[in-house]
Amino acid sequence: MVVRFSFPTQIVFGEGALAALPELLDACGGTRVLVVTDRGLVGLPPFAALIQRLDEAQIPHALFDGVHPNPKAADVVAGVEAYHVGDADSIISIGGGSAIDGAKAIQLMTTHGGSVIDYDDALGGSDAITDNLPPHIAIPTTAGTGSEVGRSTVITDPETNTKKVIFSPFLIPDVALIDPQLMRTLPPPITAATGMDALAHNVEAYLALGLHPMCDAIALEGVRRVARYLARAVESGDDMEARSEMALASMMGAVAFQKGLGVCHSLAHPLSTICGMHHGLANGILLANVVRFNAEVVPDRVTAIGRAFGVDGVEATLRAIDELAQRVGIPRKLTDVGVSPSQLQALADQAIADGCHQSNPRPVSREQIVALYQALF
Ligand SMILES: [Fe+2]
Repeated sequence: MVVRFSFPTQIVFGEGALAALPELLDACGGTRVLVVTDRGLVGLPPFAALIQRLDEAQIPHALFDGVHPNPKAADVVAGVEAYHVGDADSIISIGGGSAIDGAKAIQLMTTHGGSVIDYDDALGGSDAITDNLPPHIAIPTTAGTGSEVGRSTVITDPETNTKKVIFSPFLIPDVALIDPQLMRTLPPPITAATGMDALAHNVEAYLALGLHPMCDAIALEGVRRVARYLARAVESGDDMEARSEMALASMMGAVAFQKGLGVCHSLAHPLSTICGMHHGLANGILLANVVRFNAEVVPDRVTAIGRAFGVDGVEATLRAIDELAQRVGIPRKLTDVGVSPSQLQALADQAIADGCHQSNPRPVSREQIVALYQALF
C-alpha cells in the first residue's frame, strides 16, 4: 500500500510567542495586514495583545471582525472586500476555529474566482486551488480545532444550510503562532467544549480507517494530553502548564486527522447547522457513545486509547471518556441542550450525507445514525 505523509506547517509555540509576530510576518513577505476575527473576541485581552504588538511594530492593519461561529459564505465575501479596501497583502487570523477557518476562505477568495462554495472538496473544487495566495499567520485563542495546522476550512452554504469542506495543502497557514498566554482568559465552558473537540479529533483519527502510523502515534499522545490536562485547564484557567499541553493536544489532533475523522463528526456537524450548537460541545456529548459503537469492530484500538487515559479495557475506556466529559461540565443528553426529537430525521439526513463517516472504522447506515442520536435523547 502506498500512502503519502506530510507535516509541513511552520509552528512557533510557547508562552510569549506573540512577540515574534513582526519578524514572522516579514519573513513571509507581509507588510499590510488584514486581521480576521469574530466580533466576540474584539475587546478581549488576546485581541488587545495582538493589536498592541502590531502597533508597536508599526505594521499597518485593517480589521475584519465579521466571521460568525460556523462561518458562512457571506462572511467570506465581506472579508475579501475588507482585504481589498484595506489594501492588505497578508492575513493574520486570531480566535477559535471559526476565525481561522474564515480567514483561510478569505485568503482563498482574494485570488480565486467564483463563490467559495465552488471549492467544495466533495465536488472536486479543491483541485482548482493554487498556491497563488497571500500569506496567512494563524493565532489560535482556543485549544480545540487545531485549524492553525490544518489544510481544510469548513464553510456553511446558505442555499442548503450544510457545511462544505474546502481542502488544499495551500490552505495550511504559513505560520501557526501558538501562544498559550492568549488562552489564559478563555472561559471554562469554552475551554471544556473546545478541549472535547481536540479529544474527538485525536480519538477519531486514531480509530479511522487507513494506514498512517505517524498520525496514530501523534493521536495517542494527543489523547494522553487531553486526559491529563483538560480538567486542569477548565478548573484553573491560569494553569499555564495545562493551557500549553492542551494547545499541543489541539494541534496534534488536527495533524492526526489528516488521516481522517469518523461518525462522531458526521453527527456533530448537523447539530451546528440545524440546532446552532457549538461544534466542540456537540462532539463532547456524542463521543463516548460513538466510541462504544466503534468498539464492536476495533476493540484493540479502543483499548489503546484507554491506555492513554491510564485505564485498561474497552469498558474502562468508555467510562474514562464519559467521566472526563462529566467532570468538565459537558451535558449528557442532546435534550439537555435543547435538541428536540422532532429534529431527528433532519439531523440524520445531513449526517448520512456528511463525508466524515467515510473513514469511520465501522460502516454506518442511516438507521444506525438515528439510533446513535436517539441514545442521547
Ligand atoms: Fe472537530
